[in-house]
Amino acid sequence: MGSLVKISPSILSADFSKLGEEIVSLDKAGADYIHVDVMDGHFVPNLTIGPDVIKNLRPLTKKVFDVHLMISPVDQYIEQFSNAGADIITFHPEATKNVSNTIRLIKRFNKKVGISLKPKSTIDLIKDYFKDIDLILIMSVEPGFGGQKFMPEVVDKLKEIKKIVTKEKFNIDIEIDGGINFKNSKLVKDAGANILVSGSTVFKENSGNLKKNISLLRSN
Ligand code: DX5
Ligand code: ZN
Repeated sequence: MGSLVKISPSILSADFSKLGEEIVSLDKAGADYIHVDVMDGHFVPNLTIGPDVIKNLRPLTKKVFDVHLMISPVDQYIEQFSNAGADIITFHPEATKNVSNTIRLIKRFNKKVGISLKPKSTIDLIKDYFKDIDLILIMSVEPGFGGQKFMPEVVDKLKEIKKIVTKEKFNIDIEIDGGINFKNSKLVKDAGANILVSGSTVFKENSGNLKKNISLLRSN
């Protein structure tokens, strides 16, 4: 019986001096998705990678590129990230003047649409869009950096979103992102997350044994 839970390792915690090799290692280690954290130094106080890097990584794996855009404004980059090979494009509602328009843009490029809520962002920011999206990314740390501590106060929001998705029978994946480790992975799964993002736990635990860390997160 395959596990219902998918693991999406974040390459923010990878060794940026050998990102290509890291992607191949994640693929071989059984990652379901690859979480790509894009930061612009404006929406969040950090800068990472852009569409050209994703374009170079694309041929190295067939795994889903789960692209988390922590950038604003966001609309003018949707085409570039789509053409670079993103499969899921997730944006923050605070990063656009018109959420429906950003959703439409992502769909125009036949990509799956995700919306992300920062820890203090409430469900009412996205409640009108459940019918239009494929994924909700609930952040359990303030966006910007890997290796931060899990914020348990987001679990109630996770449960609330799971309740709405189940009740209304929306076909939406619920992804949790930030400080996920072997101690809290069961908690977030039981609360309704079916995709777990993890950077530091996957890359740093068990002396960086990616395969072991991915399967421990999936099975715990
Ligand atoms: C933070 C990113 C997260 C982060 C997760 O802004 O969106 O995806 O890389 O890393 P860990 O698992 O180390 O918290
Ligand atoms: Zn992320």
